[in-house]
Amino acid sequence: MDKRRILILGGTGEARDLAARLAGRADLAVTLSLAGRTLDPAPQPAPVRTGGFGGAAGLAAYLDGESIDLVIDATHPFARQISANARAASATTGIPLLRLERLGWDEQAGDLWRRVANMDEAVAALGLEPRRVFLAIGRQEAKAFDAAPQHHYLVRSVDPVDPPLDAPDVDYLLARGPFALEAEIALLRDHRIDIVVSKNSGGEATSAKIAAARRLGLPVVMVERAAVEDGHRAGTVEDAVRLMDHVLGAFRKRGV
Ligand SMILES: NC(=O)c1ccc[n+]([C@@H]2O[C@H](COP(=O)([O-])OP(=O)(O)OC[C@H]3O[C@@H](n4cnc5c(N)ncnc54)[C@H](OP(=O)(O)O)[C@@H]3O)[C@@H](O)[C@H]2O)c1
Repeated sequence: MDKRRILILGGTGEARDLAARLAGRADLAVTLSLAGRTLDPAPQPAPVRTGGFGGAAGLAAYLDGESIDLVIDATHPFARQISANARAASATTGIPLLRLERLGWDEQAGDLWRRVANMDEAVAALGLEPRRVFLAIGRQEAKAFDAAPQHHYLVRSVDPVDPPLDAPDVDYLLARGPFALEAEIALLRDHRIDIVVSKNSGGEATSAKIAAARRLGLPVVMVERAAVEDGHRAGTVEDAVRLMDHVLGAFRKRGV
């Protein structure tokens, strides 16, 4: 039997877990795609290809060229461009697309969240008075906070923020999750943080900062996800595997 060829668009823990679940299956040939942004990426359990495809048209050409049977977009909830490209490439090639996206965090008793729609709103939500801000949003959008240079920032990211912020009072911390609650509480205390900025990424690897803010009674500016309609959708790796088998089965029955 010919193996069904699966492309996982990755860069997340879920993509790695999914690749590990599928890598051992004799009926599948799995390739994991990474953007190549992280200088020292974590080891992956399946063959990896690295780097952009060249937009939606480049991705469509790759899918055709590699005879991919099904794409699973398991990229980060805030990686919007690659997800839009995947939807467009699926539409033009007819190759089915599944979206694996972890659920966002919900506000709990004791949380002091201010929900905003984007980074500009997050900057404005910090207010005019100088504050000590823990910026835990990754490095790509950190530059937006140059617009509010009166604050002190502690910026945490996996790779260095390059170029660095122009704001005058910034500390940088390089670290990769998962992060533990007690360590996050100590970090917020040691740096005398009085407000946290986070994306609503969901998942467990980076949720401790939210719990730490709750424990210390600190406000959180929470950047929410944009709503997207994208067909086949799973919230967990198990659901994604079930959905994938269902979709592959339907295609086999139709003789595609
Ligand atoms: N944004 C976040 O907060 C965040 C957090 C954690 C991890 N990540 C991961 O980091 C990567 C980059 O995120 P981003 O926000 O820069 O993405 P993005 O803005 O959606 O994508 C920008 C471009 O990077 C390339 N790309 C992105 N993901 C790719 C993948 N898995 N395989 C091959 N090319 C990819 C594509 O280039 P072409 O158009 O040339 O194909 C895409 O157009 C993603 O894989 C994402 O899962 C992002």
